[in-house]
Amino acid sequence: MWNKVQETVKFLQNKGISKADYGIILGTGLGNLVEKIDIEFSIPYNKIPNFPVSTVEGHSGELIFGTIGTKKVIAMRGRFHYYEGWTMEQTVFPVRVMKFLGVENLIVSNASGGVNPAFKVGDIMIITDHINFMPVHPLHGKNDERFGPRFVDMHEAYSKKMIAKMEEVALRLNIPVHKGIYLALQGPTFETPAEYKMVKILGADAVGMSTVPEVIVAKHMGMICFGISVITDLGVEGIVEAVSHEEVQKVAKIAEKSVGKLVEEFIKSPLTPASPAGRPEGQCH
Ligand code: HPA
Repeated sequence: MWNKVQETVKFLQNKGISKADYGIILGTGLGNLVEKIDIEFSIPYNKIPNFPVSTVEGHSGELIFGTIGTKKVIAMRGRFHYYEGWTMEQTVFPVRVMKFLGVENLIVSNASGGVNPAFKVGDIMIITDHINFMPVHPLHGKNDERFGPRFVDMHEAYSKKMIAKMEEVALRLNIPVHKGIYLALQGPTFETPAEYKMVKILGADAVGMSTVPEVIVAKHMGMICFGISVITDLGVEGIVEAVSHEEVQKVAKIAEKSVGKLVEEFIKSPLTPASPAGRPEGQCH
């Protein structure tokens, strides 16, 4: 794995990709965040050695290098999901590459099903924490100390400072946001009503099929993470309705304008200290 990561990093550096301030993973239907990036160049995944190639419709698959304001960004347009059949190592490979390209801050976005009864379809949730219910752990197996330690501290998987900063940005832009906990299941099935109920009982506000493995390896390598989720459907008891990938993409597409504005402004703004008196989880302003 180490050698593969270094080989890919060298390849991308030779193409002109250098250290960036932020790595961004653009999830389902949020690919258009790309419009906020002044793109220097992009490389399709199938031209990058050792990169998996995304198979899901709506995940187009290219690595983008550019700027937002004065900040350099590397964005993944399209991510890899464990349910596609990749090993967990392959699923998180691009995050490893970002780190060794010099990225310290990772922003991840996704679509999820809301189980918090206060949520509505199309709402935006800042991820404050996660619950890992993936069947395979991305750090399973022998640890390579060159990436990070065997036992990884996860007490602040999602940066409190970044969460506070995004709340401030959201207030300034007058875009309502929730805060909440994201639980990852393998998929590719959406949840049964009983499973949505389980997710809620376990203490989460939303459920999805990505993000958690990426954040785990990012933390393994000492990166600072921020996550944002679009609630594309509801798994709230009594109102669970049929959900499809098309519906998820449609809702994500509507919300992506707001998410794009939030992330653009977030990247352009300086970090402010985290306030201990933040809004309680699962509530919006
Ligand atoms: N469950 C899991 N993943 C999802 C959902 C959901 O309801 N919506 C979007 N991604």
